Amino acid sequence: DAEQIRELVDIPNGVASRSIFVDEELYRRELKEIFGRGWLMVGHESQVPEPDDFMLSRMGEESVILTRDRQGELHVLLNSCRHRGMKVCRFDKGNTRLFTCPYHAWSYTTDGALVDRAGGLFGVPGWKTHYHEALDKKEWGLISVAQMRNYKGTIWATWDIDAPPLEEYLGSFRYWLDSALNSRSGEEGGSTVLVGVQKWRVKCNWKFAPTNFIGDAAHAVSHKSVNLANISPSGSGRRDERAKGHYAFGWPELGHGGLGFTPRPEEEWEQGSVFGRFPEVSEYFREVFEKRKVERAGETHYQGKGTIFPNTSFHEDQPRTIIVHHPNGPEETEFWRYYLVDADAPEFVKDTLRHYFMTYSGPGGMTEQDDLENWLYASDASKGMIARQFPYNYQQGLGYSEPFDGYPGSVWCGYRETEQNQLIFLKRWSEFMQGWNWDELMHRTPRPDYVPFPLKST
Ligand code: FES
Repeated sequence: DAEQIRELVDIPNGVASRSIFVDEELYRRELKEIFGRGWLMVGHESQVPEPDDFMLSRMGEESVILTRDRQGELHVLLNSCRHRGMKVCRFDKGNTRLFTCPYHAWSYTTDGALVDRAGGLFGVPGWKTHYHEALDKKEWGLISVAQMRNYKGTIWATWDIDAPPLEEYLGSFRYWLDSALNSRSGEEGGSTVLVGVQKWRVKCNWKFAPTNFIGDAAHAVSHKSVNLANISPSGSGRRDERAKGHYAFGWPELGHGGLGFTPRPEEEWEQGSVFGRFPEVSEYFREVFEKRKVERAGETHYQGKGTIFPNTSFHEDQPRTIIVHHPNGPEETEFWRYYLVDADAPEFVKDTLRHYFMTYSGPGGMTEQDDLENWLYASDASKGMIARQFPYNYQQGLGYSEPFDGYPGSVWCGYRETEQNQLIFLKRWSEFMQGWNWDELMHRTPRPDYVPFPLKST
């Protein structure tokens, strides 16, 4: 089995089987080996600010509830009644003292406990009279994730008690994630989610999106209309011009990667305002930049966008977002986009950004539509019995990646246009799918069959 999986991704030759993107059996295995073990992003603490707040989320195909209990503690709970499986919560978000199951009315508090109250409408109806007080309610609370972590406001969870701490899982790539989560003035985790989550479904395999966000710079040609018409909502002109100076970096041992700049001291960092049409907004960004220069002089500022294996991507630059690609069968993905803004930004800045985000990103935005069309048709054209016999090509830049000291554990994959980050993602995919244990996945225990990522021979 593991041997068959290994053959699907041919790292030395830069090719991967199309079945990875269409096969039902492989998809079922992904749910167990990848989504059953990896760290997945569930939401943001700003979405459940008050005691007894909740929001519905997903982990792979599982429906989960992010809650803040009466004491203010956060929880991630499986949205499935312990009695006979009914969803105990069917609202996207809200505030409640109890989740009362519509089927037979078992009721749970926001920390997941089955209510310890006999008789009446809530708790376990008939606990005294029909269950004869024999049902041990402490054993029948909602299922909780094995581990949960609040990382600078973002909530992550895993079903695997043996998974390494989130920080170890992220490695030094987390500094790039920080750049999306910190406020523009550099305040740690100083961001909030603007409005709510934008969600949509597309008939494509879930891996198209993270392998695109990990550094598919060449696909800028898909967005040519935005460039040619100079209609970017940022008003800043050509996307490819703005992208100059970006490089592709990958973490071959962890499966993460992205497009960004080499580390630069803070005083050299400058973000040209992309809001020329909105002077008040430009002024806000100029002010926070100046503040940052003074208060964080000498700090390294990591700038970029990328993918955290398996299904979380982010943009540090505008539009500043986190995107989670939820699998919904081998041929469908449910996209969730969280738009991030400085928590203490003035309302007019937030309002302008809201309009800007909606016109640029998401299913109604200009750039997302180009991407969605590509992924939809690529999925469709890859599932035929003939089509799936021929591999995808990831040879751009093959063998030209070099170790990079700037980010520990990373390699420099070349100037923007390279497909090696995508190969890094698929390499990690293969390792999870082969069933490697965490010691092997985190490279604490070397495996004799380990295939090193091909680096430039000098
Ligand atoms: Fe929930 Fe029966 S399924 S109470």
